[in-house]
Amino acid sequence: MKTVEMVKVAKEVLRNAYAPYSNFRVSAVLFGEDGLFTGVNVENASYGLTVCAERVAVFKAVSEGKRKFEKILVYTPGRENLPYPCGACRQVMAEFFGEDFRVIVANDSEEEQFTLGELLPFNFKR
Ligand code: THU
Repeated sequence: MKTVEMVKVAKEVLRNAYAPYSNFRVSAVLFGEDGLFTGVNVENASYGLTVCAERVAVFKAVSEGKRKFEKILVYTPGRENLPYPCGACRQVMAEFFGEDFRVIVANDSEEEQFTLGELLPFNFKR
């Protein structure tokens, strides 16, 4: 699946983002052999309970028995910030995906692509 198609899906599901506190809306599209899963950020009045879009997508997939994926696109609208995954999301992705798994971050003016190994070298594994 091409990045442009993933961005299209990310824009569609963004309407479900629940971000009344930060107003920073994020969506994620996880894609690979096991199909396509989406996620959005879900905030809470108790701010620390917020879950990022990436983690929602990964947990939706894993909870349905799907773990074979090649990449994730993380999208936020606008032309300023790029939604680089937070440290917690990097660690969660490292639990299930290898160092060649690709992470694409995009907004309405640019996109950047990394491998998970670049984003989280020396990740903690047991
Ligand atoms: N957020 C994500 O969903 N993914 C990212 O990659 C960066 C941060 C969310 C969490 C919170 O709801 C909002 O963005 C502001 O931090």
